[in-house]
Amino acid sequence: MTATVTSEATEPGGAGEASGLRFPDGFVWGAATASYQIEGATTEDGRGPSIWDTFSRTPGKVYAGHTGDVACDHYHRYREDVAMMADLGLAAYRFSVAWPRIRPDGTGPVNTRGLDFYDRLTDELLGKGIEPLVTLYHWDLPQTLQDRGGWANRETALAFAEYAQVMYAKLGDRVQTWTTLNEPWCSAYLGYASGRHAPGITDPVATFRAVHHLLLAHGLAVEALRGAGARTLGITLNPSEVQPLDPSNAADREAARIVDGLNNRIFLDPLVKGAYPEDMRTLMSRFTDLGFIQDGDEKQISQPIDVLGVNFYSPAYVSAKPGAPAAPDAPGTEGIEWRPPVGPVTDMNWQIEPAALTRLLERLQADYGVPLLITENGAAYSDGVHDSRRIEYLDGHLKACLDAISHGVDLRGYFVWSLMDNYEWAEGYAKRFGIVQVDYTTQERMPKDSARWYSDVIRRNGLE
Ligand code: FCB
Repeated sequence: MTATVTSEATEPGGAGEASGLRFPDGFVWGAATASYQIEGATTEDGRGPSIWDTFSRTPGKVYAGHTGDVACDHYHRYREDVAMMADLGLAAYRFSVAWPRIRPDGTGPVNTRGLDFYDRLTDELLGKGIEPLVTLYHWDLPQTLQDRGGWANRETALAFAEYAQVMYAKLGDRVQTWTTLNEPWCSAYLGYASGRHAPGITDPVATFRAVHHLLLAHGLAVEALRGAGARTLGITLNPSEVQPLDPSNAADREAARIVDGLNNRIFLDPLVKGAYPEDMRTLMSRFTDLGFIQDGDEKQISQPIDVLGVNFYSPAYVSAKPGAPAAPDAPGTEGIEWRPPVGPVTDMNWQIEPAALTRLLERLQADYGVPLLITENGAAYSDGVHDSRRIEYLDGHLKACLDAISHGVDLRGYFVWSLMDNYEWAEGYAKRFGIVQVDYTTQERMPKDSARWYSDVIRRNGLE
């Protein structure tokens, strides 16, 4: 088997040698998915309802009322999906566990049939020489916990740490790399500020409570899993690569600083440096008393981690615009305007700018110094199997990774989003990110040109 995320993929003390268009030896190549987006079988084998089951059934919330009830039917087809991964030559696979399969009501009895699914999946992967990388939470919170306040309630953080230990007890003998949360920014700001994602709440007070309790959940789980013997622990964020529209304009620079605070520093500073940034405490205080940040919490959140997962799709440019209302997903951003995308965009209307990924990786390395893993990167296009635009997107972003590595960034691996077309949250099945096409009528999987191309990249550990 090839090197794992855990192993020293790179030269001791820093980034490995990338020569020309080749990646360092041991660079980990994978693909990513998430439970609610692919599994289906939402009422099977004792799974309880999640906030996405509820949200997707709420009229007007998701494109065409699509739900994850069937999705890619991966729950039943995981064997053929793993065989497909092996055919593609993947060294690693990042999947998430559906908490409502494990503890259907969030805190009560453990559902062994749910555990068994991930047990079988893990064995199937290992049997094919594919390293499993587990994400413990990719947005499908048990609905019962939401009924008690969800992430706005501190109890959810404690429940998460318990659930994490249940998973570790089951898979810890075989899974080496564990990440706690996927993109807590989305859980907090899309879930509780703009309400574009489940649970669909629009309340800045709940938003900041959610930020804190998500981070606390991470810290509690890391401590517990470390104590239980876990080797490689981390979290996945979607850090913004945010720039002032006019770098020579002080007001634009200030706008970028605030957005950087809300999207990046409010997560990364407590995670890595053990304290919320002062400016973000001040911003939060405009909305709420900060009594929910209890003594010792920040220390708890800053448990050492071994890897920081980075999900990257698109940069952001902001400017000062007096009188502009705050963005719905960014409380406290009155007077700030986001520039609409410029140049080519994907089907998500996300600007394509690979150089922004290089800048982001370099900044993360410089300011936080944790080994990095791209846990998601990819593009939505409805081009069918001849998806040359996706190849171009991926090629550009992998070159951006090589640039970062050659500038000394300790980047250990890359997971394409996504293995296959799947349920794209509020966009339903309308947006296709897969390197493998899924026919949702027949569930037939058909590798796209990008899948063949990615196989070649993996085989040569580099680009052309
Ligand atoms: C990320 C999510 C992932 C997928 C991609 C396109 O924010 O983590 O589930 O939806 O975006």
